[in-house]
Amino acid sequence: MSASNISRLVASAERCLLPLDQATTLPPPLFNDPEWFEVERTRVFHSGWVAAARSAELAQPNQFVTATIAGEPIVIVRTANGRLEALSNVCRHRSATIVGERSGSARSLQCPYHQWTYSLDGRLRAAPNMDQASGFDKAKVCLPRFAVDEWHGWVLVNVDSSAAPMSEAAPHLDLLFTEHRMAEVVSVGTLNYPSPWNWKISVENFLESYHHRGVHRETLEPMYPGAQSFITPTGEEPWTAVDHVSVVEGDEPFIALAMYPSLLIAITRGVGMAWFRLDPLEVDRSHLAIEVFLLPEYANDDALGDLIVEGLRVINDEDVPINERTAKGLRSNYAESGRVSHLEEATWHFRQWLIARMSD
Ligand code: FES
Ligand SMILES: [Fe+2]
Repeated sequence: MSASNISRLVASAERCLLPLDQATTLPPPLFNDPEWFEVERTRVFHSGWVAAARSAELAQPNQFVTATIAGEPIVIVRTANGRLEALSNVCRHRSATIVGERSGSARSLQCPYHQWTYSLDGRLRAAPNMDQASGFDKAKVCLPRFAVDEWHGWVLVNVDSSAAPMSEAAPHLDLLFTEHRMAEVVSVGTLNYPSPWNWKISVENFLESYHHRGVHRETLEPMYPGAQSFITPTGEEPWTAVDHVSVVEGDEPFIALAMYPSLLIAITRGVGMAWFRLDPLEVDRSHLAIEVFLLPEYANDDALGDLIVEGLRVINDEDVPINERTAKGLRSNYAESGRVSHLEEATWHFRQWLIARMSD
């Protein structure tokens, strides 16, 4: 990997850092360059807190959840004594992933290939037929462990284990999540979208309502006119939020919020939230799972849950084709950075954060 290529790409993005009224969008190669994506994996996803699960999925001892963090396979477990561990889900023998299920319960983690077996804190407990391997000491073999934190109902993992706790990184977001009772919400349904485009296309689409006028003309725009959206100031903290006014009586305003790099949530005041679980897999491919949560007083209201899941399906089905078209256009030899509307302030904020991370 060439450092000079990354420095050149960072330099090509300098006009993104200008004040909003002069700034441009990201240069197209930042969406397409495999080297840039490899460095994003390290500097953006593997050196910060990334939401990997909800605490409710790991409430009981022996429960586990698997996830990937920009392609890095991990398994999070609740040990018998109630502690959370985030472990590499890669076998120390020949590197098969150990746990295949999305979630479940187990007393140990057994690799299906040659049945090396690990305890829930990652130590190798059994390795069949290894008695003739000279000097092999299974007591010295352990799955790599990552930092893990629980915060407002999320289980966050930081591949960089020297990280400060999440609540210290974003005190204002801590207050906002308390105000909206994010720790209490209950999952009521999930939509899955394989997303064959770069992850930043999804983040930028999520973080502006300028496109309501074009893409959601008959759905969101009549209720939440994009031109009346506004950004919540967040100072130096690594997140941004686009707030809305509702012009239809009885429809609660919503906030589209992103804690960088990839915790995307839409909060509907007094009702619940949708977590857009965005997992970048390769430079041109991500997976998006939209999980809908309601406040506990509505959690048994199936009709409300269905209505919100269906509403999100309609909205996201409108976003999919425009994200595809953006990805296609960004691959053109004639694509270049464009100018930015004041309604895109949150995407501008995201770009500043991204470029600062990539300049390290
Ligand atoms: S790869 Fe896991 S036991 Fe061989
Ligand atoms: Fe949209």
